[in-house]
Amino acid sequence: MTTPKKIMLLGSGELGKEFVIAVQRLGQHVVAVDSYNDAPAQQVADEREVIDMLDGNALDALVAKHKPDIVVPEIEAIRTERFYCYEKQGIQVVPSARAANFTMNRKAIRDLAAAELGLRTARYRYAASLEELISAVENIGLPSVVKPLMSSSGKGQSIIRSTSDIENAWSYSQSAKRGDIAEVIVESFIPFHTEITLLTVTQKNGPTLFCPPIGHRQERGDYQESWQPCRISETLLMEAQEMAEKVTRSLGGAGIWGVEFFLSDEGLYFSELSPRPHDTGMVTLVGTQNLSEFELHARAILGLPVPEISLMRAGASAVILAEMEGNMPRFSGLEEALALPGTDIRIFGKPSARPYRRMGVALASGDPESDVEAIKKQAITSAAKVNIICEE
Ligand SMILES: Nc1ncnc2c1ncn2[C@@H]1O[C@H](COP(=O)(O)OP(=O)(O)O)[C@@H](O)[C@H]1O
Ligand SMILES: [Mg+2]
Repeated sequence: MTTPKKIMLLGSGELGKEFVIAVQRLGQHVVAVDSYNDAPAQQVADEREVIDMLDGNALDALVAKHKPDIVVPEIEAIRTERFYCYEKQGIQVVPSARAANFTMNRKAIRDLAAAELGLRTARYRYAASLEELISAVENIGLPSVVKPLMSSSGKGQSIIRSTSDIENAWSYSQSAKRGDIAEVIVESFIPFHTEITLLTVTQKNGPTLFCPPIGHRQERGDYQESWQPCRISETLLMEAQEMAEKVTRSLGGAGIWGVEFFLSDEGLYFSELSPRPHDTGMVTLVGTQNLSEFELHARAILGLPVPEISLMRAGASAVILAEMEGNMPRFSGLEEALALPGTDIRIFGKPSARPYRRMGVALASGDPESDVEAIKKQAITSAAKVNIICEE
């Protein structure tokens, strides 16, 4: 391999920022793209570009201008249909054009996982109108979960507990959906006791590898805390790894994937997957593993060896959310937040804030065998010490 390769990063948030740092440490050159200027990853990249990534022509023009060796999507809201064409031109799309394209739409990935590969998922139906939603809910039963086919971070998603919720669920899905697709997925609500992300690494020249499972808790469709390892039985772990292997193999390519599962008394359910570093995987930034999820992504993409993934520490992350809207956020309380041994902070450097926007993350860690619950509490305590003040 000759270094540097030119990497075009599509989406420049906090996950992208850590990825940029990881590939630069391996001598690579990064062009960081986002829809607004001064996004977190752009602050550390070699070059930056601001475009609407859902605009296929703008995307093509950028690829023609920079001639990247590798295109790395960091978000879903990209005109991913164009990726097939980039692949034909000899550009490496991460993990593959098919993976990025299938996962931007819940229907493609769910049909692949459930119908084609036979993975166990929540029962589901699709609905493209209020009338179809009413009959889908009748079929699936209550409670059920409604999500726009194109959306992320819980946007447009709601739970239907009684038939009187259906109309609101439909209008909410339509107001918050992304793009022009009206269709929604309706799933049976899984009363899970644990939700996990299984970070999975597919390699160009090596076997598929798995990170120790990460547990997490979601609120309003965004993760609040994550912890690693999430202790689950060996049997369930094997089952999860088998499902992750199947779906990543079918989608193809090299890189890290966040494969999400629900664990209920009934067993394990595949939920969804992202073909890139996962937000709950930020816990690996505190040294829970010999390589963070970003370092793993970097190596897998570049075809560099990942001889092993091992658990080094038990750790947890807790998000730091903005409460108000404004520009040029300033932070106080870092002294208190960092006072406990094993804690750390990442401030993402987002140029503006709005209520519930994730502005940073608090991290905590301890010995590999220590009580993850206590470490999680420490991360939450640390996150709560950080205050964000904005100019109105
Ligand atoms: N069928 C379901 N049953 C119970 N909870 C669900 C179900 N689907 C989603 N959720 C909850 O909503 C969260 C977000 O849903 P997900 O499908 O992962 O969408 P997103 O793409 O926005 O992350 C999940 O992590 C889970 O907590
Ligand atoms: Mg999810």
